[in-house]
Amino acid sequence: MSTPLWTPDGGSLVVHADNAEFLPTLPDGSFTMIYVDPPFNTGRAQRRQQTTMVRSIDGSGDRIGFKGRSYSTVKGLLSSYDDAFEDYWAFLEPRLAEAWRLLADDGTLYVHLDYREVHYAKVMLDALFGRDCFLNEIIWAYDYGGRAKNRWPAKHDNILVYVKNPDAYHFDNAEVDREPYMAPGLVTPEKVALGKLPTDVWWHTIVSPTGREKTGYPTQKPEGLLRRAVAASSREGDWVLDFFAGSGTLGAVAAKLGRKFVCVDANPQAIEVMSRRLGSAASVVSAETGRPLPAAGA
Ligand SMILES: C[S@@+](CC[C@H](N)C(=O)[O-])C[C@H]1O[C@@H](n2cnc3c(N)ncnc32)[C@H](O)[C@@H]1O
Repeated sequence: MSTPLWTPDGGSLVVHADNAEFLPTLPDGSFTMIYVDPPFNTGRAQRRQQTTMVRSIDGSGDRIGFKGRSYSTVKGLLSSYDDAFEDYWAFLEPRLAEAWRLLADDGTLYVHLDYREVHYAKVMLDALFGRDCFLNEIIWAYDYGGRAKNRWPAKHDNILVYVKNPDAYHFDNAEVDREPYMAPGLVTPEKVALGKLPTDVWWHTIVSPTGREKTGYPTQKPEGLLRRAVAASSREGDWVLDFFAGSGTLGAVAAKLGRKFVCVDANPQAIEVMSRRLGSAASVVSAETGRPLPAAGA
């Protein structure tokens, strides 16, 4: 048997791999927090990998959900409304099923989406996790770019939050950054100084095209968003995972907050950006060869 790339006592990793192939190599219950920001336009090219993955999870064709729900019933009904749904479900569902398996009993999953797909993913995650495991839908509100004239300009993303066990999940809002009061004159100076706890609507600027955080990776998300999620849903020393990692925002935040992380991406450009961004905080490895990859710029 080959040596596993990841061990609980090892250091943080950036892994170049298709997540469908790499995730099944990780042991059950290893991560306290998982954040994913998956691409929407996945297309049919992903099909071969999806089939392999579904088999590797359960060894059967028509799966029963974790709490006895039949996926095929829900999926069949939804697919009859929209062809694009069929592809989206086939790509994402087996990967989110892996996320469920990889979460620790006190773990939390954050799935970053937008208005085009959030309704599909909500139904999918309700079926996978169980409705009682739904914790929040976070709205990330920003204000950037042009404004459509023929409808309300869309200026938010949606982050669905699910917990593995509604009776045991870790959540510590004392660890998150607080917000200024909108009407400070209406509360005491002590309250103004302390700020207020964030709600499920997070106002945050996008990554500034000229700012310090910018890596050049097109879909990069701001560290401020991820900081809140990591701070509330994991503790120092815990393992966190992003298997659609892109520029490695989760890794950057995790390193600053003293968490250990695994960031996986299939795109060589993403691996290069992460290698540069995360520096000595992680080893960069290829899942295919099992060997370290040279650091960016080396
Ligand atoms: C929206 S981006 C993530 C951006 C990231 N949140 C950040 O802050 O930079 C989605 C990423 O998923 C990666 N991806 C798509 N399909 C994948 C797969 N099957 N396995 C691993 N990564 C994949 C893409 O290469 C892309 O970098």
